Amino acid sequence: MANNNPIGIFDSGVGGLSIFKELIKRLPYESVVYFADSANCPYGPKQKDEIINLSVKAVDFLLSKKCKIVIVACNTATAAAISFLRNNYKISFIGMEPAVKPASIYSKTQSIAVLATEGTFNGDLYKETSEKYAKGIDLNIKVGDKLVGIVENGLIEEPESLEYITDLIKPLLKKKIDKLVLGCTHYPFLIPALRQILPSYIEIIDPSPAVIRQLERVLLENNILNNKNENAKYDFFSSGDTHIMEKVLSSIIQQQEVIKV
Ligand code: DGL
Repeated sequence: MANNNPIGIFDSGVGGLSIFKELIKRLPYESVVYFADSANCPYGPKQKDEIINLSVKAVDFLLSKKCKIVIVACNTATAAAISFLRNNYKISFIGMEPAVKPASIYSKTQSIAVLATEGTFNGDLYKETSEKYAKGIDLNIKVGDKLVGIVENGLIEEPESLEYITDLIKPLLKKKIDKLVLGCTHYPFLIPALRQILPSYIEIIDPSPAVIRQLERVLLENNILNNKNENAKYDFFSSGDTHIMEKVLSSIIQQQEVIKV
C-alpha cells in the first residue's frame, strides 16, 4: 500500500525549511505542504499551553491539506506539544530533538555545547536526553536569544548579526568544546556565520539528516511512502511575512511562491 498524499511540515517560521531542504534531497518523490507560523514567531519564550494551541492550529491546517504525516520541524514546539499531538491525532508525528547523544558519544574533549531556545531547554525531552546521554560530559548550554529573529527577519548578512553571534559564541570557546549542537531549526541557516567564528576542529551538528532518516523509517513502517516516480509538488503557507520566506526558499528551490493564510 502506498500513500501519495503530502508530508506536512510546520515551524514557528522559516527555520523548518532546513528540514525541508534535507527532505527533498533524500525523498524527492514526496510532496510537501509547509506551514510557517511567522505571525507568532518566536515560540521560544512562550508558555507551553500557548505553544500547544498554536501547534494544534498548525496541524489542523496541514490535515485540511490532506497530509499523511507531520514533521514538527521546531525543537520548541516538539518540546512543548509533541506528546499532546501524539495523544490526540491518529497520524504519526516526527519531532526534533537536540543531538546531544551523538555529540556526547563522539566528543574527544568530553565537552560540548548546545544552542537552543529557552522553551527547548525547559522541556522534559531535553532534560531526559541530556541526563541519559551526557553523563560525565561538560555540557554547555546557550540560549540563542536573538538568533531566530536574525533568520526570520532576513538579517543573516548584516554585520551586526555576525557581531552578535560572535559575542554569543566566544565564551563557549574557552570551554574546550569540540561539538556544537544546533538545537533549533532556524540555526542551520547561520552555519556560514558560525563557521567564520568557530575553529575548524569544532564540528557543528545539524540534526536535519537524522530527522529525515527517521521520517523515511516511519513512512516505510507504515507503508505510506509515495510510489509514484514523478515530480513532487510543494506548497508553502505563512501566517506572517511571505517575502523573507520566499527569499530563503530561493536558496533551496526554484519555486518560491508563498501563500499568506
Ligand atoms: N525553529 C524553532 C525551533 O526549532 C524556533 C523557535 C522559536 O520560534 O523561538 O525551536
